[in-house]
Amino acid sequence: MTEANPTVEAHYKTLEAEWNSVDGSLEFERLVVPTGNNDSAYHRWFHLKEAFSVDLLPSILKRLSLEGKRELRILDCFAGGGTTLVSALEMQPQTRVIATGIEQNPFLHHVSNTKVKSLQAGRTLALQLRESFKDVKRIYTSDLLYKAKTPALSTFSNEDYFPPALLAKLLRIRQAIKFCDGSTLAKDVLLTAAASCVESTSRLRRDGRALRYAAERQPREPWVEFSSRVQQMIEDIDSTTSKGGAATIHRGDGRRPLLHIDTSAKQDLVVFSPPYPNNIDYTEIYKTEAWYLGFYEDAQEFRSQRFRTLRSHPSVRFKDEYDFESSPDAQAVHALLNPILSAVPDDRYSAGRTQLIKGYADDMLTLFRQLREIISNEGRLVYVVGNSAHGSGNALFVIAADLVMARLAELAHWRVEEISVARSLRRRTTNSRFLRESVVTLAPA
Ligand SMILES: C[S@@+](CC[C@H](N)C(=O)[O-])C[C@H]1O[C@@H](n2cnc3c(N)ncnc32)[C@H](O)[C@@H]1O
Repeated sequence: MTEANPTVEAHYKTLEAEWNSVDGSLEFERLVVPTGNNDSAYHRWFHLKEAFSVDLLPSILKRLSLEGKRELRILDCFAGGGTTLVSALEMQPQTRVIATGIEQNPFLHHVSNTKVKSLQAGRTLALQLRESFKDVKRIYTSDLLYKAKTPALSTFSNEDYFPPALLAKLLRIRQAIKFCDGSTLAKDVLLTAAASCVESTSRLRRDGRALRYAAERQPREPWVEFSSRVQQMIEDIDSTTSKGGAATIHRGDGRRPLLHIDTSAKQDLVVFSPPYPNNIDYTEIYKTEAWYLGFYEDAQEFRSQRFRTLRSHPSVRFKDEYDFESSPDAQAVHALLNPILSAVPDDRYSAGRTQLIKGYADDMLTLFRQLREIISNEGRLVYVVGNSAHGSGNALFVIAADLVMARLAELAHWRVEEISVARSLRRRTTNSRFLRESVVTLAPA
């Protein structure tokens, strides 16, 4: 077993000692992963591996004694599949929630936005959906020849990944939805159902880091898969009782919430889980669904999307520019990052890793500064984040995002109330106790 870089570990130990750090595994271990999401109405519309649990928001509200409030404004700036917003809309009727989400990925925005709009639409949507589905079936099974263009992503042309006969069906479903009779929302629900079949009808598997070829996998039949998903969605919409409240998900940059929310709308709770600084690129992981739905036309659009994301991955070379360097906090940020930057091994990944550490910190500082302007005096900010190991052998070091973010938040005038360690992510290769996932609570200072 390798020791993680001891200077960096000592740096984290000193940082952590400044705050109240507790073992939160009993409460949070099962909530920082998508426990229960596959069995819950709306949450189950698309399986997002990186989501947190449907039960996280209720648990946070209880802890912070916010659950009895008459009105609550909640913001999630990295909305993903919309777990926070769907959970918020499902709260008790005595609480009126006004929930806002921001999501940059076009496909994940489609999913979360469709979920929250459907939840608010009520039962007439279920009727519309039944009718539109009938029409999709009529078109799909007819002799009509609709030209279904294969997305210009090479993955779709690989016959091992997508057996041609199944791909043709998948594309025909998409075309039939495009031409069916129905409202925009009904069609969006059907498109969500179709996109959620892309993985199961192929030999690709998301393993948390990337899309992998799974030769042993038996792809499912697209129409059967699609129909059963639509039935499930109709069931969910049919059983919804309107609880009041309003939710909106913006497609945009969650690092800059002030672009979407004006400073007079003070938030009671900000809760989010950002991409972790672990090289995972959401644009890559959810690319087949996004191309399938037509969100990218060509490689240039796909690449531009990567540049719009949080600097948590080295898939593209972001500009070497950091706002913190010209801010009054420059010295403090350097003091925070230097021990970590000094541990970056001098190899071919060196430039990418250095950019990731500085870019991630820069984005987080911007985010915390902007959120500080829209939090109410008694409000709270809760973030869920995982730390990660980088490098190998003697050159292994950990990026402790929970602590780095906590310090950046202080620089942006937040007070760290608690660092609750939800679960250990220790690997066989290293025993750093900072390899973990945490739930951190901040209050305005
Ligand atoms: C850990 S996931 C959030 C999952 C979410 N909590 C859920 O339960 O579904 C992080 C999300 O941040 C999104 N993201 C990345 N860069 C972003 C940006 N600049 N603005 C907004 N969202 C971004 C990713 O597309 C991804 O959906």
